[in-house]
Amino acid sequence: MKELNIFIRPEKLEDVKEVLDKVHCGGMTLSTAMGCGTQKGVTEETVNEIKGYKTTINLLPKVKVEVVVNDKDVETVIANICEVCATDHVGDGKIFIKNVEDAVRIRTGERGVKAL
Ligand SMILES: Nc1ncnc2c1ncn2[C@@H]1O[C@H](COP(=O)(O)OP(=O)(O)OP(=O)(O)O)[C@@H](O)[C@H]1O
Ligand SMILES: [Mg+2]
Repeated sequence: MKELNIFIRPEKLEDVKEVLDKVHCGGMTLSTAMGCGTQKGVTEETVNEIKGYKTTINLLPKVKVEVVVNDKDVETVIANICEVCATDHVGDGKIFIKNVEDAVRIRTGERGVKAL
């Protein structure tokens, strides 16, 4: 099992939910977040406004989706998220991938992928 931490533009949330629904993910957790990547929050729209001024890091609204998926679905999910979230502009987001050792469904005691 792998946990994907997916940072996306808020307006892409419905598309990402559809991608996850197609692999029958058992669940997901969503948080609203403020963040920046390599541009430190400077977008193509704001770059001219701040040129010449000293700025601090600018945090932009993002959505973070956490989902634990079966190993066999990982690459499909990643490819499909990249497809629906890519706009060809900076700030499209990022996916961090972590190993998950085990999982437990508290109600039944099921373990591993059965608990997803
Ligand atoms: N290294 C990181 N650690 C934690 N969160 C990050 C990291 N990089 C990006 N994020 C999160 O992902 C969001 C989107 O990042 P973003 O797509 O701007 O990455 P980038 O590396 O700057 O790529 P691009 O050049 O395409 O914009 C950020 O607002 C932040 O919430
Ligand atoms: Mg960026």
